[in-house]
Amino acid sequence: MERLLIRGGNPLRGDIRISGAKTAALPVMAATLLADGPTTVGNIPHLHDVTTTMELLGRMGVELTVHEGMEVEVNTASIDSFRAPYELVKTMRASILVLGPLLARFGRAEVSLPGGCAIGSRPVNIHVDGLRAMGAEIEVRDGYIQGRADRLRGAHIRMDVSTVTGTENLMMAAALARGTTVLENAAREPEVINLADCINAMGGHVQGAGTSTLTIEGVERLRGVHHRVLPDRIETGTYLVAAAMTGGEVRLKDTAPELVESVLGKLRESGAEVATGRDWVTLRMDGRPCAVDLETAPYPGFPTDMQAQFCALNAISTGAGTVTETVFENRFMHCLEMQRMGADIQIDGPRAHIRGVERLTAAPVIATDLRASASLVLAGLVAEGETRVDRIYHIDRGYECIEEKLAQLGADIQRVPD
Ligand code: EPU
Repeated sequence: MERLLIRGGNPLRGDIRISGAKTAALPVMAATLLADGPTTVGNIPHLHDVTTTMELLGRMGVELTVHEGMEVEVNTASIDSFRAPYELVKTMRASILVLGPLLARFGRAEVSLPGGCAIGSRPVNIHVDGLRAMGAEIEVRDGYIQGRADRLRGAHIRMDVSTVTGTENLMMAAALARGTTVLENAAREPEVINLADCINAMGGHVQGAGTSTLTIEGVERLRGVHHRVLPDRIETGTYLVAAAMTGGEVRLKDTAPELVESVLGKLRESGAEVATGRDWVTLRMDGRPCAVDLETAPYPGFPTDMQAQFCALNAISTGAGTVTETVFENRFMHCLEMQRMGADIQIDGPRAHIRGVERLTAAPVIATDLRASASLVLAGLVAEGETRVDRIYHIDRGYECIEEKLAQLGADIQRVPD
């Protein structure tokens, strides 16, 4: 297992490129199962979760060709298995995204139940209930969701909670169902819009993406297309927070500033100077940031996937701030590790009260999930001494070449074997 060693103290300065979004790439790769012809997906980030998705599709008999510049061509003509096995699903919950497309196009699917994870219980009841409402017969047996359907039919579905992958799964299923599906209380995340754009380019009829009501008219078949994944808004936010914490000045290219408005607002509130253009963001921070209060919420609210990074920012800020997590019930593990680096944090249910300290001190820390790991790397960038972040396979699931990008900005960081 590898680890990261970080020597804190260098302000980040310079330019980097933002990669394609993991959370947009995974549903689009699952959507390739809907199309009759080959689909090419561009701007795919080179990440573990993408490799896992490729392995998952490959095991189903799908043919995958990786072209230059991280374009992946997917051809489902040779598919001969409809199963997502436990050993893959347990490493990547997003494997559940194949359930809807498999049932819609092939009438069968067997997908391992994901189970709990480090940030909460994360059930998939909304995915399953929605597919049942569309006529699928679903049983949960031997730890697997086993589904059968002749042809799914359109349904009116109100989702109790706003769920990103739940909305995506049901949207994909509805795209090939007979008749019209209405999804109420749909997630409004940009990744949902990106998926709707992909399905519409394939010849589908999805309306309302980006609002809380989606109307999907099912079609008989969808065709292969070329689709480009949108930039990663969480990677964008993470590097901006890193620059703000280190008192640096950075320019992020190939991103989409309009997707990170809530994050930019909080960074400005913390004292950063932020400027944006069509596909770039610059940030400059003089001195320490001021602490901010924030509360996570579904898009366009403040993203839960940026919560840990702002805990790190507050930890070295002037003043005190309260971070409230409303999306997942157990997403403060990073705070316990930051406390070991000298952070002053009190956890009180869904709230973390954080009083900034002048400096953190390095410690060996353990990453518990993807965004928690990123926040510990950020804490390491400003800590005195050498921080060792273990279990970085979490980071490799969602940040492309993190140590190379940070080193390019002047950080003292290296990846070493155990
Ligand atoms: N929920 C249910 N029932 C369901 C589905 C969800 O109760 O059937 C609840 C969850 O327990 C949670 C809330 O709904 O409390 C929202 O969860 P959601 O389903 O939206 O999360 P997700 O789709 O599993 C995606 C991202 C996550 C991100 C969340 C929230 C992907 C592949 N993953 O997860 O990304 O945190 O939305 O924005 O899109 C990450 O990138 O590190 C990550 C965890």
